[in-house]
Amino acid sequence: MDVTQDSRSGDPNVGRAQIEWVRRHSPVLDGFVRRRISDGSLEGKRIAVVVHLEAKTAFLATVLADAGAEVIVAGSNPRTTRGDVVEALRERGLTVVAEPDGDYDSWERELLIAADHAPEYIIDDGAELTMRMSQYRPELFAGLRGVSEETTTGTARLHRMHEAGRLPFPALTANDARCKHLFDNKFGTGQTTVQAMLRLTNRQIAGAGFCVVGYGYVGRGIAQYAKAMGARTSVIEVDPVRALEAFMDGHAVGAARDVLPDATFVVTGTGGMRAIGERDLPFLRHDVVLANAGHHDLEVDVDALAAAASAISSPREQIDTYRIGDRDLHVLSGGALVNIAGGSGHPVEIMDLTFAVQGIGAHHLVTAGLEPGVHIIPAELDDAIAAAKLASLGVELDPMRAEQEDDAADWLSEGTAP
Ligand SMILES: NC(=O)c1ccc[n+]([C@@H]2O[C@H](COP(=O)([O-])OP(=O)(O)OC[C@H]3O[C@@H](n4cnc5c(N)ncnc54)[C@H](O)[C@@H]3O)[C@@H](O)[C@H]2O)c1
Repeated sequence: MDVTQDSRSGDPNVGRAQIEWVRRHSPVLDGFVRRRISDGSLEGKRIAVVVHLEAKTAFLATVLADAGAEVIVAGSNPRTTRGDVVEALRERGLTVVAEPDGDYDSWERELLIAADHAPEYIIDDGAELTMRMSQYRPELFAGLRGVSEETTTGTARLHRMHEAGRLPFPALTANDARCKHLFDNKFGTGQTTVQAMLRLTNRQIAGAGFCVVGYGYVGRGIAQYAKAMGARTSVIEVDPVRALEAFMDGHAVGAARDVLPDATFVVTGTGGMRAIGERDLPFLRHDVVLANAGHHDLEVDVDALAAAASAISSPREQIDTYRIGDRDLHVLSGGALVNIAGGSGHPVEIMDLTFAVQGIGAHHLVTAGLEPGVHIIPAELDDAIAAAKLASLGVELDPMRAEQEDDAADWLSEGTAP
């Protein structure tokens, strides 16, 4: 049985083997988190898990189900759902409202079906289910007790909902946990985005111009991996402080017109829309590879490319080539997150941390009695997850000793001069 492929065929045996592979490499989720959430508090709670539906997400769903939750699983992007995993989860008795090879219309329908299962809690990605429940299922939205959000984009959306007075329950921004963004966004996306771009294209990175648009945690991870593989890296940023960081990290920095003409690879990771848009098209060189690692499938404006193209062809799996004038511009995975739609997603070890935050976060939402609004997972839970990961790696830390502490506090009390 080939469990290395992300087959969409729908063989539950393959899906089961893939989930077991994840379990073997997820010591925090399979140990620390399991123990912590198996106190009965999740018993019978309806939790929707709406994250890219592949084996690592599936394992999180099974851990929650094992803790007694009634789990409803849906995908967070129609291009990233794996059929084998869907079938394996169904075989285990979980409710899955996602089909592989769907399109945006079928995905919209699936999310509304997930909403109709009346979840009390959501582990969401991009706030995709939360927003739709607010908009299309207000009566069920009123029954929500909490949301734990995976991404930078979803976190921004939840803050906007809160500011608009439209968030009547607590939302935890898992992305703000240090055990999430310091590792997942940076190392996970960095490794797997470069990996997917090279696998899909079979092109050479050493010596190639490689442009990263957006220098947040995602962008800096991608730029770091590309540079380590010998690329000549450049960065496009709109925030001057982050642009300066990119410069000091050793990347060329500049406006699109200055850096794009030298790039063989261009990848977006901004969380916004049209980071590479119509105005940038004149600066792209012939044969450039365009990919996206951010949440929106329109970070590379494929609609603008299609409007400008005289022809569109598909020379290789997951590559669309737009003929514009005398140039060919290649878009990977239709502009969806290339590391997930065109690869296997984050390394298991990284998702062990991210989903530990989500599992502990769901438990915290159920047990902590949080006020409505946007919250960050408490620092001690973040620390406990990191400590569990270190323990799984056989690493022990020295505790801080009293004599190592700064004695500045002594200066706050009055005393006699020596
Ligand atoms: N592919 C994955 O597996 C994965 C993993 C984690 C996060 N994400 C997604 O990646 C995106 C970025 O995440 P992050 O944590 O780096 O966010 P971030 O907010 O830390 O960084 C985004 C950066 O992009 C810059 N930016 C915004 N619009 C821009 C534009 N038009 N041109 C140039 N720069 C622009 C911002 O100034 C900021 O520095 C989000 O959508 C997030 O949800 C994807």
